Amino acid sequence: MSLDLIKTVAVLGAGTMGNGIAHVFARAGYKVILRDVEQKFLDRAIDTITKNLDREMKKGKLDEAGKGSTLARLVPTTDFVAIAEADFAVEAVPERIEIKRAVLTEADKLLRQGVVLASNTSSIGMTALAAMTKRPDRFVGMHFMNPVPVMQLVEVIRALQTSDDAFNLTMELSKKLGKTPVAVNDAPGFVSNRVLMPLINEAAYCVMEGVATPQAVDAVMKLGMNHPMGPLELADFIGLDVCVDILHVLHDGLGDPKYRACPLLKKYVAAGWLGRKSGRGFYAYNS
Ligand SMILES: NC(=O)c1ccc[n+]([C@@H]2O[C@H](COP(=O)([O-])OP(=O)(O)OC[C@H]3O[C@@H](n4cnc5c(N)ncnc54)[C@H](O)[C@@H]3O)[C@@H](O)[C@H]2O)c1
Repeated sequence: MSLDLIKTVAVLGAGTMGNGIAHVFARAGYKVILRDVEQKFLDRAIDTITKNLDREMKKGKLDEAGKGSTLARLVPTTDFVAIAEADFAVEAVPERIEIKRAVLTEADKLLRQGVVLASNTSSIGMTALAAMTKRPDRFVGMHFMNPVPVMQLVEVIRALQTSDDAFNLTMELSKKLGKTPVAVNDAPGFVSNRVLMPLINEAAYCVMEGVATPQAVDAVMKLGMNHPMGPLELADFIGLDVCVDILHVLHDGLGDPKYRACPLLKKYVAAGWLGRKSGRGFYAYNS
C-alpha cells in the first residue's frame, strides 16, 4: 500500500489515546472510523475532540470551517465490521494482553490483505503482538504520546517481523500528521519508557529516602536540567499505576534490578494515590 492510497483510517478504542489519534488523522484529512465497544465512549471521545479543536481555534491554528470538516471526517461506530474499508489501522485499546489479542485477531480478519495494522501499546512487545496476527510483516508500533494533538513525537517501532515497506509507510504517514517519527527497534519499554521510567523511579527513591520533597526534586530537574515538567509531576500525569506496570515490564524483560519499582510508588498505588486521575499522587489535585 502506498501513502497516497491511504484515505480511510480505522482507530480501535476511543479512550485517552484513541480520541487523540482520531483527532490528528481527521485533522490531516483522513476519514476516520473510530470504533469502541459502547456508544457512551464514542460520545465522550467526540466531545473531547470538539473541545480540543475549539482550543486549537482559540490559538489560531484552525478556523471554523477546518473544525467542521475535521468533525465531519469522523465516523464513530460500535460495529467492528465497519473497519473493513480502512486502508490503515491503529489500535489503542486497554493495555491488557487478552484485550489486545481479541481486538488484533478480529481486526486482522476484517482488514484487507495489504493493510498495515499498528499498535499504540506503551509496554507490550511489538514482536509478540505481530505474531498474534496473520500479517506480522504488516504489523508495526505507532507509539503516540499523550496528549496526542499536542505532542510532536511518534515512536515508530519495528517488530522483528515488520517489513521495510510497512515500516517506511508508517514513518511517512506520521509525517503527514505533522508529527516527527523516530525509528526504534522492538525492546522492552522501547526508548521512551526505558529512559523515562528509571528517571521517575529514581525521583521517587529521592522522596522515599528523604533526600528532598517532591517539589524540590521537580524544581531541580526543571530549573537545572531544563525539563518542562518535573519527573514527579509527569508521573502523576501518566498515572503511578501505569508507571509501576511499565517498570515491571522493564524489570521482567531486561532482568536488571535497576528497573525494580520504588516501594514508595507501589505504596501510593496500593493506597489508590494514582496521580491526577485519582486526585492525589505525589501532589494533591482539586477535582
Ligand atoms: N494514556 C497514555 O498516556 C498512553 C500513552 C501512550 C500509549 N498508551 C497506550 O495506548 C493504549 C490505550 O490507552 P488509553 O490510555 O487510551 O486507554 P483508555 O482506557 O483511556 O481507552 C481504551 C479504550 O478502548 C476501549 N475498548 C476496550 N475494548 C475494546 C474493544 N474490544 N474494541 C474497541 N475498543 C475497546 C475502551 O472502552 C476505552 O474507551 C494502551 O495500549 C496504552 O498503553 C497510553
